[in-house]
Amino acid sequence: MRFIFAALFAASLYAADLTGRWVGPASTADNGQEFVLALRHGRDDMLTGFIIAPRGNEVVVGGKLVGSTVTLEADRPGRANSVQRVAYTGVLDGDKLKLALPVNGGRGGRGPGTTPPPDRPPQIIELTHVSFETPEPPPSRPEPVSLPMPATVPSNGLAKTPPMGWNSWNKFRNQVSDKMIREIADAMVKSGMKAAGYVYVNIDDTWEGAHRDAQGNITTNNKFPDMKALADYVHSKGLKLGIYSSPGPKTCAGYEGSFQHEEQDAKTFADWGIDYLKYDWCSASRVYDNTQATMAGAYAKMGLGLLGSGRRIVYSLCQYGNLDVGDWGAKAGGNLWRTTGDISDRWQSMERIGFEQQLGREKYAGPGHWNDPDMLEIGNGGMTDDEYRAHMSLWSILAAPLLAGNDIRDMKPEVAAILMNKEVIAVDQDKLGKQGVRVVKNGDLEVWSKPLADGGLAVALFNRGTATANVTAKWADLGINGSRTVRDLWKHADLGKKTGEFTATVPTHGVVMVKIK
Ligand code: GLA
Repeated sequence: MRFIFAALFAASLYAADLTGRWVGPASTADNGQEFVLALRHGRDDMLTGFIIAPRGNEVVVGGKLVGSTVTLEADRPGRANSVQRVAYTGVLDGDKLKLALPVNGGRGGRGPGTTPPPDRPPQIIELTHVSFETPEPPPSRPEPVSLPMPATVPSNGLAKTPPMGWNSWNKFRNQVSDKMIREIADAMVKSGMKAAGYVYVNIDDTWEGAHRDAQGNITTNNKFPDMKALADYVHSKGLKLGIYSSPGPKTCAGYEGSFQHEEQDAKTFADWGIDYLKYDWCSASRVYDNTQATMAGAYAKMGLGLLGSGRRIVYSLCQYGNLDVGDWGAKAGGNLWRTTGDISDRWQSMERIGFEQQLGREKYAGPGHWNDPDMLEIGNGGMTDDEYRAHMSLWSILAAPLLAGNDIRDMKPEVAAILMNKEVIAVDQDKLGKQGVRVVKNGDLEVWSKPLADGGLAVALFNRGTATANVTAKWADLGINGSRTVRDLWKHADLGKKTGEFTATVPTHGVVMVKIK
């Protein structure tokens, strides 16, 4: 009887008042970390409060309970001190609240610059009402920290040609694990990727433990039981191991970042045997002021940490190309820096990043310091083989890092042939280290060229249009003259001598790539 009364009482309370803390596991992407919703249910029926989630805290600025439907609007801190308004909807059932996470930028989901596929269902998490206490006001944002750049970070002497390897994020997001990295290392050797030049096996976000240890050391989560043993394994295959962190307190997927532990983490990475660090701005925008000096300072801090770590570690900056990174990325110790938001496995994304957002950046690239238009999507299934060939050709003309982002344990022969085209890779890895440029744009038809160490030119004829077309590269546009030999780098065929120009028939969203000597 007492129980029934209590249950009825509780049910009526839940129906009337959502005040208190609602707690549940965050999405599976967050490796068991908590999601806390703290609400005040005001007299005017308005819901306010805050959310503490792996990705960062949000302020609930308004919301309503109508019947059993809950709607919430929250301000989510974005990059560079911006704030994004996101919407949650939920269904109340007793002391449970089934909450659909906002589809724009889901937790542990895709990063900046991408829109989620329209058909992606919202992720639903189940929260339990654990207390009726009125929540404290949301933790206020701390005063932004300034961190001017110290002196120029000396060069680490690495990445004389653009780094080549594999990264877990594009295909696997939070599924990356010790087991997968070992299998990928095996596959790098077995597939021929290693022989083709791909050496770095890079773990992206979601390897980190929820907390540091008592000495403040960064820890791994249970997907990575022993990072040092994993590095030993990868090294035993003649490959190198990469890892990921953030200058902010949290990474983009809400895991532990290196804020105020930069030197300590660099030492930990070195002790583990790490060879490559991707350092992703993410929540740093919540603690640092939004100036170029401070961003450069934050990157230089880790740059110096890596240099002093006792191990030679390639340093990859990831801050989406903001605040003129080309002007200071190398001075902060960077071997490469992202120039844009996240790529996705669609022609439009690759096209925007590769053809439009790299223009004018060639002056910053050279041996030891490269523009990074993001990882490859080749083989992930969202583009045609012609589109992937265009992707590979453009990245090579751009002297971009070549970080495969597909499942190389299980590659179609067509995909393997694209990723391992040695003649195209040779263009990317050319010792001269010049980033190529667009020399002709004629509507959807473009000619790009890159000077090579042996005096030759790599030339790519692209067709961005929707029908097959003839594309012509005129010697005058390429700055050459006379009679030249032309070799097709995709057909692996000499096309003989051409005088004055070379014309090729190029499929829609495709490329013909040649070397002219
Ligand atoms: C950002 C980066 C991505 C990836 C994710 C991981 O979005 O730009 O490349 O590292 O974070 O959370």
